[in-house]
Amino acid sequence: PKILVLASGSGTNLQALIDASRERDFPGQIVAVGSNQPGAFALERAAQANLETFVVNHRNFGSRDEFDAALMAEILRHAPDLIVLAGFMRILTTDFVRAFRGRMLNIHPSLLPKYTGLKTHQRALEAGDSVHGVSIHFVTEELDGGPVIAQAEVAIASDDTPESLAEKVQEKEHVLYPIVVRWFCEGRVQLGSDYVMFDGQPL
Ligand code: GRF
Repeated sequence: PKILVLASGSGTNLQALIDASRERDFPGQIVAVGSNQPGAFALERAAQANLETFVVNHRNFGSRDEFDAALMAEILRHAPDLIVLAGFMRILTTDFVRAFRGRMLNIHPSLLPKYTGLKTHQRALEAGDSVHGVSIHFVTEELDGGPVIAQAEVAIASDDTPESLAEKVQEKEHVLYPIVVRWFCEGRVQLGSDYVMFDGQPL
């Protein structure tokens, strides 16, 4: 399967996927990396790995619809089987999400359904939680709300700060995302009507 990664930031998750995709038995191929941020370090990482890159800068568009249409056009050129959102910090329109239903994954730094949206580490600390973590889910119309495929937990220490916690969660992200992408490429994980199918069984 052909994988297209979208990233807005430093791209450490992209890097984890690039590294995994270099393993001899990896079942998919990263065909392109796109960003809405011209200066994203993720693009640098992609170029280093000789991957094709593209930028669709949201600042150049008057509306979300126009941005999404331009993004869609770039994506379709690569005909991906899977879109991996790896720190892609734009909310996608309903039409866009529907067009890639069951073929788009996102990583979110919380144990969903807890803490959708931003500042998840700070919110977990403020709530006095003892565990936090990361979720990987299918993207549906609901922001950070699609069916969860896998999660990894992190114990919160009494001296954790949002930064230290983010670091611990990121370590888990870099392990978990390549595993889930591999499952998808092997056909082991699929989106049912509103739940995840794993090895042919509802999860
Ligand atoms: C990750 O923490 C991811 O969970 C989030 O954005 C961050 C992206 O980091 N939503 P990176 O660009 O992969 O380094």
